[in-house]
Amino acid sequence: MAEEKEKCIELTGIVKKYFIGTENELVALNNVNIDIYKGEFVAVVGASGSGKSTLMNIIGALDRPTEGGYILDGIDVAKADDDELSEIRNKKIGFVFQTYNLIAKTNALKNVEMPMLYAGVPGKKRVERAQELLKLVGMGDRMKHLPEELSGGQKQRVAIARAMSNDPSIILADEPTGALDSKTGRLVMDIFHKLHDEQGKTVILITHSPELAEETERIISLKDGQITGIRQGAGRPKETAKETKQDQPEQPAETSEGNEE
Ligand SMILES: Nc1ncnc2c1ncn2[C@@H]1O[C@H](COP(=O)(O)OP(=O)(O)OP(=O)(O)O)[C@@H](O)[C@H]1O
Ligand SMILES: [Mg+2]
Repeated sequence: MAEEKEKCIELTGIVKKYFIGTENELVALNNVNIDIYKGEFVAVVGASGSGKSTLMNIIGALDRPTEGGYILDGIDVAKADDDELSEIRNKKIGFVFQTYNLIAKTNALKNVEMPMLYAGVPGKKRVERAQELLKLVGMGDRMKHLPEELSGGQKQRVAIARAMSNDPSIILADEPTGALDSKTGRLVMDIFHKLHDEQGKTVILITHSPELAEETERIISLKDGQITGIRQGAGRPKETAKETKQDQPEQPAETSEGNEE
């Protein structure tokens, strides 16, 4: 990491409550304080229900905290109005989800173009960039395929290309390998490493896999809505750093629910 670390995300005293004022009031996040630095690769781990996705939604400006401060690249997100929040989402953040969230009946290329369409990028530029991104994730030969014609790992690679379309500085990935077998998960993880190493993206990865968490630079543990530990990870394994093998089409056989472990 650079000697002078520049913060990109500053969360102070973040509280998220649901069912406020009812007897079911639930504190999903309870006084979360964390700074994340530009170009960092961070993992968020914790049991189911510990608040990982809630935290991700707040960082991604998809949701607002009940209390607390959030500064993103110097912008006071806590005070932003809805239009400003959607601007932040579109320009600064790329989202990747466990279930890909691709648009059905719409081919890979058009899926990747979609955020650029909303951002007003002209047609030719949009297509060129979508093609370039699909090649980057090793999907250059599947651009015209519909999501239903792609394997889980291929869909996730399209989803990553889409997340990159407006050149966000931050990639937020919520269990991106959760529905993939370990070999395909490895391939997807290598793409995140590549975006981090070669493009300097800040990557925040929610994962249930201790092995994948260990490959990041910093591991944040959540329990019952609170940070219970922050420690250094080992970083990218050397053998995967040399060559990411993305342009080799994977075997189409893997299933979404398959898990080799
Ligand atoms: N929209 C919502 N309304 C009410 N409660 C919610 C809502 N979203 C999350 N919660 C609650 O907040 C807590 C944290 O949920 P969250 O989804 O952040 O957990 P998580 O760590 O992502 O779990 P998982 O690993 O299962 O995805 C849980 O108790 C959950 O039931
Ligand atoms: Mg979750």
